[in-house]
Amino acid sequence: MPIQAADFDFVRALVKQRAAIVLEPGKEYLVEARLLPVARSVGCDTLESLVEMLRAGQNAALQTRVIEAMTTNETSWFRDLHPFEAFCSKVVPEILATRKSEKTIRMWCGAASSGQEPYTVLILLAERFPQLADWTIDFLATDISAEMIAKCQAGKYSQLEMNRGMPTPLLLKYFERDGLDWRVKPELRSRVQFKTMNLAVPWPAMRTLDVVFLRNVMIYFDVATKKQILSGVHRLLRPGGWLFLGSAESTLGVHDGFERVTEAKAVIYRPGKG
Ligand SMILES: C[S@@+](CC[C@H](N)C(=O)[O-])C[C@H]1O[C@@H](n2cnc3c(N)ncnc32)[C@H](O)[C@@H]1O
Repeated sequence: MPIQAADFDFVRALVKQRAAIVLEPGKEYLVEARLLPVARSVGCDTLESLVEMLRAGQNAALQTRVIEAMTTNETSWFRDLHPFEAFCSKVVPEILATRKSEKTIRMWCGAASSGQEPYTVLILLAERFPQLADWTIDFLATDISAEMIAKCQAGKYSQLEMNRGMPTPLLLKYFERDGLDWRVKPELRSRVQFKTMNLAVPWPAMRTLDVVFLRNVMIYFDVATKKQILSGVHRLLRPGGWLFLGSAESTLGVHDGFERVTEAKAVIYRPGKG
């Protein structure tokens, strides 16, 4: 049975309030597809009864499950390629020069999903920059979804997931077999710290950063939330730091404190003139 308008509005408001994710009218099908399995898992036959439980408002764990179910976790290895080329051709060489005395790179991936993006970054650093072997890589990867963060921490992927962008030589070098799946080798796994973090609420204290990856997450937010997040990133970036957004995302018209730089067919951003 299709979701009732009032129930859809309730879910939209909850998801906007808790995760800043905007569900436009017309996304009823998405709510139905994502929440029916949640409803069944708690013994509800219909979305109506699930929303009734949510309205009662006393089940924080259920609310969290609903929020997590409404996030879109689409990702892949080396997604969009060009930003990673820009990372290797411009961003890392610059950091190697500016941070050569402290030998530390500080990075944050703020919408890590199931981990493909942060692990891609680490593989590139290991492959292309052997001179970083004695550097400290201070890499934090976060996501609102505890389920996704658990998957990042496990570092375990099916063959189907590996087929989405991971070249075979790199698969064999950085992963080991775990039954039918593949698991990130411990030496790579230990170079990133994973935590849950909601971008839409005040952030915990964070250290300043050389690189921020916030790819393919801003598209879900309204302009006010984007502004707030970009202001936070602007404050955290160290002089000469860089921001990566998704190919459908931009700072334009949202925050004028970033300079857009085209490198290796990707647009990347650094604090400066808009
Ligand atoms: C489409 S994935 C992008 C993954 C990866 N950055 C990439 O580009 O392949 C979007 C991720 O943003 C996360 N997300 C959505 N709303 C969020 C919020 N308010 N705070 C933190 N993460 C959020 C979702 O859980 C999801 O894993």
